Amino acid sequence: MSVNLESLPELPRDEAFAITADFNADTDPRKVSLGAGVYRDENSKHWILPSVKSAKNILHDTPSLDHEYLPIPGFQPFLEAARDLILGEYDPSRSNVVSVQTISGTGANHLGAAFLAENHKPRNIFISNPTWSNHHLIWEVAGPNATQRLYPYYNPTDGSLDFEGMMSTLESDAVDGDVVILHACAHNPTGIDPTCQQWGSLAQLFKRKQLFAFFDCAYQGFATGDVDADAWAIRHFQRILFEDASEPQGMCIAQSFAKNFGLYGERVGAFHLVLPAHVSPAGPRSHLHRLIRAEISNPPLFGCRIVHTILSTPELKTIWLEDLRIMSGRIKRMQSLLKQHIEKHQGVGEWDHLESQIGMFSFTGLTPDQVSRLRDVHHIYLMQNGRASLSGVNEGNVKYIADAFAEVILHNE
Ligand SMILES: Cc1ncc(COP(=O)(O)O)c(C=O)c1O
Repeated sequence: MSVNLESLPELPRDEAFAITADFNADTDPRKVSLGAGVYRDENSKHWILPSVKSAKNILHDTPSLDHEYLPIPGFQPFLEAARDLILGEYDPSRSNVVSVQTISGTGANHLGAAFLAENHKPRNIFISNPTWSNHHLIWEVAGPNATQRLYPYYNPTDGSLDFEGMMSTLESDAVDGDVVILHACAHNPTGIDPTCQQWGSLAQLFKRKQLFAFFDCAYQGFATGDVDADAWAIRHFQRILFEDASEPQGMCIAQSFAKNFGLYGERVGAFHLVLPAHVSPAGPRSHLHRLIRAEISNPPLFGCRIVHTILSTPELKTIWLEDLRIMSGRIKRMQSLLKQHIEKHQGVGEWDHLESQIGMFSFTGLTPDQVSRLRDVHHIYLMQNGRASLSGVNEGNVKYIADAFAEVILHNE
């Protein structure tokens, strides 16, 4: 048989999923997971949002709902609700938006990469340093002809945003049509976002240099508890890039509903392509449909029905907005509590960044050796780059975590 599969080398495990598997296999009762990017309540249990529970009851009690196939682009009422949630009220005189359903945010990133690689053919794809590691993998798989370039983002000396480096790299190295991935809010892994003023400067740069903005939006509402504040950068870019509809600007959004609805396993997402008003959406739409047909034929139904039911039912939407405040509020309280407990130890330095970073992740500054010691000695699991998901912290384990952080910091001093 002429197959080469037997000589395929085994690839390393995906770090995020490997951490969860190792954590699950650990039998020590003190173990703590700060790895997975999923919300946990004050008892470290998963949380089904009350709005989601109510929506499921409504769907359960609607016998007319069938299990037929959706059309290729998905469930249209869901797509319109998803578009308006991220872009605000849609004004077709300013831009055309093509929206299609995807397999959560990962699927949206992948579909966008495949579509742009095939049809827009960027020379370079600019990715923040650091980033969610899947960005690199997705473009490696879906857009291998685009050269991956890094733009500076994080300043390790003081833990700040390297805005100068980001602007100057894009100014000097990016060329017309290059795609730049931007995290819409709660940058993963650093938790550091540009200010509104900095987003404004970036939007002007993109417009002048005709760069293609690819927004990855995985935390709308989850980051700050305010869905409009978390969509500010995207809406601002849309205003600036498309105010003069005759210019050939492009922008797209990969939208996930995993974190903000707690629907991780339902894989609900959308991809939105924003085009100037004079550009007919028919061609791009048909090419997106082609890719979807080849990959999944048509998207799954249940999760998008839940999201649509919540977004289109005013009482449920009110409950959902409160659910978001509960989740982001708990994370913020844990940021402060962990900082207080760590700083009780002499010689560990200041931990203000725990409070200033946005969203569920903290870019702790712990080194790979310290992260390994946390796992091996204290049974605390986080990413090798020092990213900790603070959803794993609660009042019962915060002192244990803080003491362990201090121990690994002071261990070799
Ligand atoms: C930056 C970023 N983009 C996209 C995603 C996609 O997540 P999902 O595919 O679960 O929607 C994540 C999830 O961790 C993320 O952090």
